[in-house]
Amino acid sequence: MKFYPLEKRSLLKTGYRKVFDIEGRSLLLIVHRDQPFLVENRCGHFGYPLDEGIIEDDAIVCPQHGISFDLLTGSIANRPYENADPIMTFPLVEQDSMIGVMLGK
Ligand code: FES
Repeated sequence: MKFYPLEKRSLLKTGYRKVFDIEGRSLLLIVHRDQPFLVENRCGHFGYPLDEGIIEDDAIVCPQHGISFDLLTGSIANRPYENADPIMTFPLVEQDSMIGVMLGK
């Protein structure tokens, strides 16, 4: 596994959001209630990017059809959808005042 630094810890304030492309994945780093989350930037319904979605009840809402995904677990938060899957979420790691993610083999 490799550590990918994403952002200085001190810059992660509520309202922050940024997309990173790492190892072929689009990942969304977002801060909500002063807590950073890293989620797959790809809706579990039709794959629409989530980075412009609003936050509601600790979940990010896909702008396309309104399914919301829990920022911590990636599970569908607002209603059951037969043809939608949860999204992946990734634990964040702090090293030398940088927040990042461990990915790869
Ligand atoms: S593509 Fe996200 S809710 Fe349909």
